[in-house]
Amino acid sequence: MNPSLLHALQDCPPQLAQALRPYLTADTFNASFSAEEIAALQQASGLSATDLAVALLPIAASYAITPLSQFHVGAIAHGVSGRWYLGANMEFALAPLQQTVHAEQSAITHAWMSNETSLTGVMVNYTPCGHCRQFMNELNCAQQLTIYLPDCAPQSLHHYLPNAFGPKDLGITDTLFDPQSQPFASHPDPLVRAAIEAASQSYAPYTRAYSGIALEINAEHWVTGRYAENAAFNPSLPPLQSALIILQLQGYPVSAITRAVLVEIADASISQQSASEATLAALGVHPLETVTLTLE
Ligand code: THU
Ligand code: ZN
Repeated sequence: MNPSLLHALQDCPPQLAQALRPYLTADTFNASFSAEEIAALQQASGLSATDLAVALLPIAASYAITPLSQFHVGAIAHGVSGRWYLGANMEFALAPLQQTVHAEQSAITHAWMSNETSLTGVMVNYTPCGHCRQFMNELNCAQQLTIYLPDCAPQSLHHYLPNAFGPKDLGITDTLFDPQSQPFASHPDPLVRAAIEAASQSYAPYTRAYSGIALEINAEHWVTGRYAENAAFNPSLPPLQSALIILQLQGYPVSAITRAVLVEIADASISQQSASEATLAALGVHPLETVTLTLE
């Protein structure tokens, strides 16, 4: 177990800490809890579902990487399947602040990359910033989404984001978490194929510049990341950030990356290449391989 996770566990109420320990120490722990695991944790700790989620926020926040702010934000996305997905903020020293991942984006992307089809709520240990409110307004559940904060009554996203600007203002009916399947041709290299699969499931209704990333880990396996666009453009989450979220939540350091492949469409109106290369370089990862594809 990594030291910050162990630290967060030690700060949990004793009954919850005892019940949580076997999950957190399991090699298979992937920073999420199934509905059955949540029920078992509630039973062992005597906590209601909401109080349990509040108690798990420091566990989520323990995944934060904050070389710039030392401000740890933890979030939990509640999937419609009943699974809870942890997330935390990630900052990148030597890269522009725009590359930062917010905890809400991390938890939501974690659920999306795990093929969850929608969310019922998002819990976070600090009030969500404007950028996160806008990011969440892109979700297929934006009209029903509940935001949970410790010491605050649950409220709808639209309580936090009245008169929202969203996909419909740009004439787009698609929303984030709607299933995507862009038809890309396959590739002989399995790592490139993984990046293509991610690009095929990416969400880019505004530019159609679908893109995906695959990060090879210890020359053995990989994590992938999908691009998630936003109606207000700036809160869009690049594919690299999506992959780095999964890398961090699976417990791998950036130094475990042995290859990085970006897939994007040839002659697209925007490109992830230079920003991804710069962020990876700031993390000490070279080079970025880029493969351009045409839609079938
Ligand atoms: N942060 C979040 O993760 N969520 C929010 O909505 C508020 C801000 C993070 C971003 C950055 O890493 C740090 O907190 C300081 O803004
Ligand atoms: Zn935010």
